[in-house]
Amino acid sequence: MARKSKRSDRVRVGIVGVGIGSVHAHAYSKLPNVEIAALCDIDTARAETLADRYGVKNIYSDYEAMFAEAKLDAVSVCTPNALHAPVAVAALNAGCHVLCEKPLSVNAIEGSKIVDAARKSSGKFMIGMNNRFRGDTQVLRKYIDDGQLGSVYYARCGWIRRNGIPGLGGWFTRKDMSGGGPLIDIGVHALDVTLYLMGNPKPTTVFGATYAKFGPYGKGQGQWGAPVRGGTFDVEDLACGQVLFENGATLALEASWAQHCAGERLYSEVYGDLGGATLEPLRVYTEVHGSPADISPSFPNVNGHEAEVAHFIDCIVHNKTPLATAEQALDVMKILDGLYLSARTGQSVRLA
Ligand SMILES: NC(=O)c1ccc[n+]([C@@H]2O[C@H](COP(=O)([O-])OP(=O)(O)OC[C@H]3O[C@@H](n4cnc5c(N)ncnc54)[C@H](O)[C@@H]3O)[C@@H](O)[C@H]2O)c1
Repeated sequence: MARKSKRSDRVRVGIVGVGIGSVHAHAYSKLPNVEIAALCDIDTARAETLADRYGVKNIYSDYEAMFAEAKLDAVSVCTPNALHAPVAVAALNAGCHVLCEKPLSVNAIEGSKIVDAARKSSGKFMIGMNNRFRGDTQVLRKYIDDGQLGSVYYARCGWIRRNGIPGLGGWFTRKDMSGGGPLIDIGVHALDVTLYLMGNPKPTTVFGATYAKFGPYGKGQGQWGAPVRGGTFDVEDLACGQVLFENGATLALEASWAQHCAGERLYSEVYGDLGGATLEPLRVYTEVHGSPADISPSFPNVNGHEAEVAHFIDCIVHNKTPLATAEQALDVMKILDGLYLSARTGQSVRLA
């Protein structure tokens, strides 16, 4: 179905899945030109609680019914990963703009269904990579765009946790629902923000390894999500790997939900021939007049989720291309697929 024009003065938004969907709702509620018109969750009690908070009148348990009836302009897809493709494709086919939570899907085949639907749809598609919108990320990106690091040829990134398995036994730890463990859950954030800093070079080859040393023994549960007693854990709890790019650059990646480490850490480091830089903390390492110089840029304190949602609405209202596209998200999925395949086979994987 082709979407012709916006359906009212305000952008009418629907949210599918009200876990992180509640963060989207909060961000939408701050925008004067947005109306949260409907919520959808199979857990209707959870949806009703959120609806009460933001005065949302329409609650659905079936997203197809919501897309057919609620006259939406835009949809946030905040379901478990395995539902991202079916929900996002249905929303795009209904003529809605779509903001889809990370990861794009459970694998690149599913992800390409979203890319195809987005190409055919008049609606915009944006992947929810909130770390791109942080103040420190945006300031560092300006340094890089300005040529301060020269040509970036090496990067390291990761998100590691000491005890941080989300909802042990629930959908996060079931491969059929999540697509994998920390690599696809939080490693995807570190990978995406680092690729963004590198200018999204084309990945060509990956090599990876995965381990499960905590989850299978019921250890490592974190704060996010309720554990499910007797549930399934058939994903990794630590992954690491390397990615080679067409332009000759290399990236090293690690992601863990549980690991005997000092504590939680999300980091990204990029190194060029003229300078290097890190996120968390934001530092730029370079040379000034032949001497090593360390720069600690100041940056605005930006809530990445709120800035991401505001940008999505701005793209709709002013017909802009979203900062984080479906095609970039598909490249990320191909890297993740390749790392999982490499971990299974012990071989490096050439990406198509
Ligand atoms: N960007 C971030 O920082 C961030 C943080 C957390 C989660 N996420 C992503 O958000 C998504 C959801 O994660 P979560 O932590 O909110 O999970 P969650 O389990 O807390 O919430 C998911 C919700 O989806 C609902 N749901 C399941 N099937 C549904 C269906 N068919 N129709 C409608 N609703 C359905 C569930 O009932 C649940 O309320 C995941 O893809 C996750 O990777 C992103």
